Amino acid sequence: MDTVADMPSLTLGSKTARLPIVQGGMAVRISMAPLAAAVARAGGVGLIAGSGLGVEELRREMRAARESTDGIVGVNIMVAVRAFKELVNAAIEGGADVLVCGAGFSRDVFGWGADAGVPVVPIVGSARVAVLAERFGAAAVVVEGVEAGGHLGTERPMLDLLPEIVDAVSIPVLGAGGVVTGADIKRTLDAGAAGVQIGSRFAATEESSAPLAFKELYVSATDEDIVLVKSPVGLPGRAIRNPFSRRIDVGDHPEIERCISCLKKCGQDYCIMERLVMSQAGDVEDGLVFAGSSAARIHDIPTVAELMSRLEHEWCEAEERGV
Ligand SMILES: Cc1cc2nc3c(=O)[nH]c(=O)nc-3n(C[C@H](O)[C@H](O)[C@H](O)COP(=O)(O)O)c2cc1C
Repeated sequence: MDTVADMPSLTLGSKTARLPIVQGGMAVRISMAPLAAAVARAGGVGLIAGSGLGVEELRREMRAARESTDGIVGVNIMVAVRAFKELVNAAIEGGADVLVCGAGFSRDVFGWGADAGVPVVPIVGSARVAVLAERFGAAAVVVEGVEAGGHLGTERPMLDLLPEIVDAVSIPVLGAGGVVTGADIKRTLDAGAAGVQIGSRFAATEESSAPLAFKELYVSATDEDIVLVKSPVGLPGRAIRNPFSRRIDVGDHPEIERCISCLKKCGQDYCIMERLVMSQAGDVEDGLVFAGSSAARIHDIPTVAELMSRLEHEWCEAEERGV
């Protein structure tokens, strides 16, 4: 009898993960040490979200993750945050295995990563930027489609965008946006990806640092509940519809009480850090609840170990069926 092959592994720089699954960085304080370490222990790549953290807090999270796993743990930092360089340094000093950078493009980070021997993986939304990233020394690129949660850099679906980026570069390409099941992973790998980056599905796991009310919004969300919200970062953001997103929609912007210039450029429509911190603290009405369109297909809050074995199982089933 034919046996079904194992899921392929994923190599980033000198590190190889048993599974081709990267848990996307989710700020503010959604993907912290407990989630990243659990994903790493299960054979994937776990990412702590550095954006919105202080340097000391990021160091503490890295230490906590390192103490609980020798698997692959990295840090995601948005290029748009003013403290980008300081956070990259803290991540490197804390022993990050990989740096993933979204919401903007930094040329400098490739040099910092190379000096420290840490692979750098930018999030890209076009073949042009992917080629540029490869030229600067990226170890891989993440192609994020319009389905993704958080800030969006493209209007195109991931599976539409992915093949042209796979053709344009020779480094590994990871697909992100709308991946929830093992069958989604198979479709993404079949389209030429070396792996996937998954955000929303991991936000609704036990180890995620999102509060229960946040996770329950994911579980109850339908397609109509997932909307685009204008972000002061200058990009649209995908989130769950709530009283706050409705306010933003009609231009009723809450006043900024205290600005700490956390972003390099800010439209000042409202304070996005404050609103992300509020939702993480449990206020899912007045806070901003980032979520991918795939949240409508999330119906439970498993542990990371349960989820990872489910993904492997579903991938095997899809392989057997050849779909
Ligand atoms: C709650 C939430 C917060 C996010 N925060 C960040 C972030 O800080 N930096 C980043 O590069 N991407 C961020 N993302 C995007 C994810 O890392 C990931 O690429 C995306 O969610 C993939 O799409 P999916 O949610 O359909 O799996 C966030 C996504 C969510 C759902």
